[in-house]
Amino acid sequence: MGLLRIQNIMTNELAKRTFLSRPPEPPYEFLLNDPTDSIFVGITKLLGVPFTWTFSALTNPHISVVGITGSGKSFFVKTFLSRASYVWNTNAIIIDWAGEYISWVKQSGGKVISFSKGDYMNIMDLSGMRPLDRTKQIMNSLDILTDIGEYPEQRRLTAEAVEQAYVNFGFNIAETPAEGKEAPTLKDVVSLLEEKQTEGTYAYPAELENAIYRLRQFSRPGEDYFARKSTIDIGKLTTSGLVDLDLSSLPDERFRALAALFILQTLKEKMRMESWSSKAGLRTIVTLDEAWKIASDERSDAVTIIREGRKYSFGLIVASQNPTDINEAIFSNVGTTIMLRIKFEKFMQYLQGSLNFSDFMRSEIGKLGVGQAAVDMSFNTSVKFPNVFLLERIVGELPLEMYTITIESLLEPNELADKEIKKEFVFDRITLDSKLVENGLNPESYMAIFKEMGSQERKADIGKFVEILVGENIGKDVIVAFLRDIGFSDMIITRVFSHIQRESGG
Ligand SMILES: Nc1ncnc2c1ncn2[C@@H]1O[C@H](COP(=O)(O)OP(=O)(O)O)[C@@H](O)[C@H]1O
Ligand SMILES: [Mg+2]
Repeated sequence: MGLLRIQNIMTNELAKRTFLSRPPEPPYEFLLNDPTDSIFVGITKLLGVPFTWTFSALTNPHISVVGITGSGKSFFVKTFLSRASYVWNTNAIIIDWAGEYISWVKQSGGKVISFSKGDYMNIMDLSGMRPLDRTKQIMNSLDILTDIGEYPEQRRLTAEAVEQAYVNFGFNIAETPAEGKEAPTLKDVVSLLEEKQTEGTYAYPAELENAIYRLRQFSRPGEDYFARKSTIDIGKLTTSGLVDLDLSSLPDERFRALAALFILQTLKEKMRMESWSSKAGLRTIVTLDEAWKIASDERSDAVTIIREGRKYSFGLIVASQNPTDINEAIFSNVGTTIMLRIKFEKFMQYLQGSLNFSDFMRSEIGKLGVGQAAVDMSFNTSVKFPNVFLLERIVGELPLEMYTITIESLLEPNELADKEIKKEFVFDRITLDSKLVENGLNPESYMAIFKEMGSQERKADIGKFVEILVGENIGKDVIVAFLRDIGFSDMIITRVFSHIQRESGG
C-alpha cells in the first residue's frame, strides 16, 4: 500500500519534470494531422503517436533522407511518393542514378524512361525558354561537368556557337520561341565550330580544337543520348503522374550528371511558369536519389528548387548515404530530415552539429535498425520541444511486390498465337502469402518459392512453380486447392500436372 503510493508520486513527479525540462517528442498536435491532407509515415517510438507529415507548419516542403546503404532510404521515398499521389494527387519525378526504382515504378503504373534504350533528350530543347537563357543553362552545366570555366576563350567560343545554332534554326535568341518549333542539337553546334576550323582564319586554333573536343564527348554517334531530337517532352514531366528517369544505363557519371542537370533546369523553368498554387498539398515532387554529384554542387538547380519550391508547391527529396555530399545550401534549408541508420562517426558528428540534437538522441540514432528513423523538422515558429524525434519504423505499402506466373509452357502453338488467351497471371505478394498460408503451406516452402521467383525477376512458369512445391513435399491435393484458390482453371491445373509428369519421365 505504502509502496504503491510512493511509486505513484514518483511517477507523477518524474513525468512532470521530464516534460518540463525536455519533452520526449513534439506534442501530438504537431505530429498527427488531418489524414486527408497529410502523409502517414510511421508511429513514434516513445509515445506511439501516428506521425502524419505535412509542411504547413514547416519552413518548407523539402526533405533530405540520410542513412547507410540498406537502411531504407529508397523504401521511405517509395512509401512517401505513393501516399502523396494518393492523398494529394502529387506528380513525382525520380532522378534515378542507380536504376533502383525501375521495377517499383512499373508496378505502380508509372512511366520509366531509360536513356540507352531508345529514349533521347535534346539538351537544346527550349520548353518555352528563350534561347539566350537556355544557352546560359547549357554553359552552366558545362561549367559543373567540365573544365571549361578555366578556359575563357573556349567558353566564349562554345557559348557563341550555341547561340548561333539557334539563330540558324530560325530562332530569335532574345524571344520566347513559338511552341513546337524544332531546336538544333549539340551536333549542330559542333558542326559550326568545325566549319570555323575549316575556314582556318581563327587566331587560336588550339582553343577551337579543344572546344570541339569537349562538346564531341556528348555528341558522338552511339553516345549522343542528349544530342538528338528528343523522344520525351521533359516539360510535361511535372504533370505526368509517376516518372522514373533511369540514368543507370548511361555509360558514365558525366552523362548521368548532364542528364540530371538538364532535367532540373527544365523542371525549375516549368515550376516558375506555373501559377502560385493555393491547392492543398504538393503539386510535384522531384527526387534525387544517390545523385551526389548534383546534390553537392550549389550551382545545380536543386538549390533553386529548394529556395523557391514552396510557393509553387514543388517539393524536393534528396537521398544520400553521405550527409556531407548534400550541399550545405540544401541540407541546412530542408524542412524535414529523415535520419536512418548511420554508421560513420564523422557523419553522426556532422548531423548532430547541423541539427543540434541531444547526446541521448545521438546514441538512439546509433542503434537504429532497417526502416527505423529519427526525424528532424524545422517549424515556422519557435517551439519549446526538441525538433528531433524517433519513429518505431517507417510503415510501408506492402502490396507493391508483384509476382507473375506464366502458363506458356502448357499451351499449344495455336493457343500461344491466340491473343484472347491470357498467358500471364499477376499476383501481389500479400495475396500469394495469405493464400499459401490458408492452404496449409509452411513458411519454409513458400520462402523457397519467393526465393526462386525473386531471382527470376519475380516471374515463373507455372510448371516450374508447381515443381518447386512438389519438391517441398507438398501434397498434390494441397497444390490443386491452392492453384484453384488463386484463380487457375481446372483445365490448366490438369495440364500442369501431366506436363510435370512428362518432364520427369513419369
Ligand atoms: N521501413 C521498412 N519496412 C520494411 N522493409 C524495409 C523498410 N525499409 C527498408 N526495408 C527493406 O530493406 C531493404 C533496403 O532498403 P532500401 O530502401 O533499398 O535501402 P537504401 O535505399 O537505404 O539503400 C529493402 O529490401 C527494403 O524493402
Ligand atoms: Mg537506395
